[in-house]
Amino acid sequence: MSTYRDVKKITTNTLQKMKADGEKISMITAYDYSFARLFDAAGIDVILVGDSASNVMAGHETTLPLTLEQMIYHAQCVVRGVSRSLIVVDMPFGSYQSNSDIALASAIRIMKETGGHSIKMEGGSEILDSIQKVVAAGIPVMGHLGLTPQSIYKFGTYAVRAKEEAEAEKLLADAAALQAAGCFALVLEKIPASLAQKVSQSLHIPTIGIGAGMHTDGQVLVMHDMLGINTEFKPRFLRQYLQLHAQITGAVQQYITDVKTSAFPNEAESY
Ligand code: KIV
Repeated sequence: MSTYRDVKKITTNTLQKMKADGEKISMITAYDYSFARLFDAAGIDVILVGDSASNVMAGHETTLPLTLEQMIYHAQCVVRGVSRSLIVVDMPFGSYQSNSDIALASAIRIMKETGGHSIKMEGGSEILDSIQKVVAAGIPVMGHLGLTPQSIYKFGTYAVRAKEEAEAEKLLADAAALQAAGCFALVLEKIPASLAQKVSQSLHIPTIGIGAGMHTDGQVLVMHDMLGINTEFKPRFLRQYLQLHAQITGAVQQYITDVKTSAFPNEAESY
């Protein structure tokens, strides 16, 4: 199936080669040791320690409250479970938007304190100087355009971005600028498939889509969404590969019944 399955360690260079060879890149989020270990052993190419931790781990409505310290903690846990996948760590809101010195200081903290392999920042021309500075320090940067959840209060909605020509043109220009600034890959979130195809064809760095159609160089999903742990979040782009919400609920209900009826533990489960 994959000609890259035997690669011992996925690097940013591997991703460039995968794009050149037409091999799609698989990426999933993880926030802790146990799931990161499972995903790495299953053969996932890239693990994103996403700031979606703010939603799925901490229960916040948006990604904005998550702190740099909290991201560092999640990334440290993930790193301990991974031996093959490339690890990308999200820079949380407030850790890079002020200026490029602050961006570099935050990126250095993530690299030094977590052992992650790269970082991700949301935005285009507005953060170009920060991206250049971080790349110049030797830190690989993944860009993120389209729906950028850290700007949700500017957008006002999680609807599809760049449907209008002006926004689509800016996104195309931003993608080229991020590549020129040295980004090794680009997440395209919730944009029309035709635009994602145009961006992907215009770049030599790989694009990773989420709600961006089938023509990007790879796909990323949030683990809780694709495993069906969330039931409330079912956008059109999401494919649920498991219905863990129902399975976990059933298992815990069975456990409660077994405890209440003294069916657990039995003789064999006792010392
Ligand atoms: O934080 C996250 O999970 C992300 C993905 C949705 C790309 O940025």
